[in-house]
Amino acid sequence: MSSAEPSYLLQVEKLNKSFRGLQAVCDYDLKLAQGEFLGIIGPNGAGKTTLFNLLTGVVRPTSGRIDLAGVDITQARPERIARLGIARTFQKLRLFKPLSVLENLKVALQTGQQTQLWQVFLSWPNFTASERDLTQQARELLAWLNLDEVNDARAETLSFGQQRRLELACALALSPRLLLLDEPVGGMNPNETEEFMALIKRIHQQLELTIILIEHNMQVVMDVCRRIQALNYGEVIAEGDPAAIRQNPAVIEAYLGHAASSADYA
Ligand SMILES: Nc1ncnc2c1ncn2[C@@H]1O[C@H](COP(=O)(O)OP(=O)(O)OP(=O)(O)O)[C@@H](O)[C@H]1O
Ligand SMILES: [Mg+2]
Repeated sequence: MSSAEPSYLLQVEKLNKSFRGLQAVCDYDLKLAQGEFLGIIGPNGAGKTTLFNLLTGVVRPTSGRIDLAGVDITQARPERIARLGIARTFQKLRLFKPLSVLENLKVALQTGQQTQLWQVFLSWPNFTASERDLTQQARELLAWLNLDEVNDARAETLSFGQQRRLELACALALSPRLLLLDEPVGGMNPNETEEFMALIKRIHQQLELTIILIEHNMQVVMDVCRRIQALNYGEVIAEGDPAAIRQNPAVIEAYLGHAASSADYA
């Protein structure tokens, strides 16, 4: 492949991943422009999370290529990819539960500034020098995400929706160019979902952030994404705007063929 066209923030070409013969991601292609908001749908086991694991370097591809803003990151380690600007949230929450909200965020901010975790806890001089700035940044971000009232609460005492927002705050603390959200509203009730997605929309618009959202619920994806890819058995079976996806026979078949997911096809 020739060098990536600079107009795309993310360019993925013929990406494959197999786990001992199981083809989890198959010939995946993507050209994602700066500022786009792409939705990825698909039944359980379709390869959605594996795709995020590939994009963030957690899993190495069997073949294919990934470029971020013209830099080949196909074989890059997760820390380098994070520094180059890809941040994610996880399908299962990952927070430092015994730490306070503010402390969780300060750890994330420090990571973004390439300071070691142990410096945060041992308060080494080069950490304390910037401690006040860091606290200020953390407080601003938390206020922006309506979490300022729980600054000092331990993460484990927050409601599920608040924990999700804190995880989002930690991802944003890395100042990403590309944000990957893996089923962020999974387990939320309709009110929490609506509130969280309104926040995501605000982040997309105000920060002009490029986002890829994995989500089972078609309504949620179609409400925020103008472009959607549907995956099944690791392959993109359909791509287009919400109307095209909704009417696509392969998508309908994939969803109705999976009992667990058919309820999401509303
Ligand atoms: N580390 C791994 N080792 C072996 N198999 C794996 C691994 N990770 C994923 N798989 C398999 O790859 C396939 C795709 O899994 P993946 O988690 O990407 O699906 P998904 O679309 O995110 O599903 P869900 O909607 O349930 O989250 C599944 O069959 C899964 O069992
Ligand atoms: Mg998944």
